[in-house]
Amino acid sequence: MPGKKVVALTGAGISAESGIPTFRDAGGLWEGYDVTEVASPEGWSKNPEMVLDFYNQRRKKALEVLPNPGHKFLVDLEEYFDMVVVTQNVDDLHEKAGSTKVIHLHGNLFQSRSTLDPNLIYEIQGWELNIGDKCEKGSQLRPNIVWFGEMVPSMDLAIQETLSADIFIVVGTSLVVYPAASLLEYVGDSVPKFIIDPDLPEIPNKPNLNLINKKGSVGMKLVYEKLVSHYQ
Ligand code: APR
Repeated sequence: MPGKKVVALTGAGISAESGIPTFRDAGGLWEGYDVTEVASPEGWSKNPEMVLDFYNQRRKKALEVLPNPGHKFLVDLEEYFDMVVVTQNVDDLHEKAGSTKVIHLHGNLFQSRSTLDPNLIYEIQGWELNIGDKCEKGSQLRPNIVWFGEMVPSMDLAIQETLSADIFIVVGTSLVVYPAASLLEYVGDSVPKFIIDPDLPEIPNKPNLNLINKKGSVGMKLVYEKLVSHYQ
């Protein structure tokens, strides 16, 4: 196992260059949809058809696209570092690129889960999940996505990984959604931190901060070169 541990927190921005829209940028998903209607337990109970359709469309899109260099540089770092990706993304582009350790904070687009028993999780074949698709206990299946107002089951694991990071990278997230955005608070002061975003978000003032005002594919190349040449 390569030496130092690198933890990367990623958001929708790392998938933007693959053709998946972000949420809050111009033309982003939340411009076309009311977030409470399609990404909350209340929206689900009010109109499950609309929620299923929203995620079916996103799943269809995710099946059409490929990882971009931003994803690939994270894979390439595995040759030199113990690499852990903590993603807010529900697409599978990190895995498609070849990342071996990926923690999905907000769920997985290609999984459904029972509305009766959250431990019953199933892989979705293709892109459709419909009304009438039931779990083994007979309850309607819902997307295995963490909606607003719901717990983030893998947050403790993400915190543990972040606490033991020797290097921390943030790529393509507006850092406005909690608890994911709070991960930066767990990064040690002496730990080098690299923040990559063409429109840098509000960042709490922390030591050893490297702000990279670039797209993911460009910024990750810079960070890859820096880490491989300086931090092994
Ligand atoms: N490369 C890198 N970053 C980019 C790129 C790019 N090519 N294009 C846009 N960005 C940046 C934007 O500047 C913005 O800061 O990506 C960020 C995307 O922010 P959001 O759309 O808010 O997405 P994210 O931070 O992942 O959202 C967090 O909110 O809606 C919920 O559950 C959903 O996981 C999501 C969470």
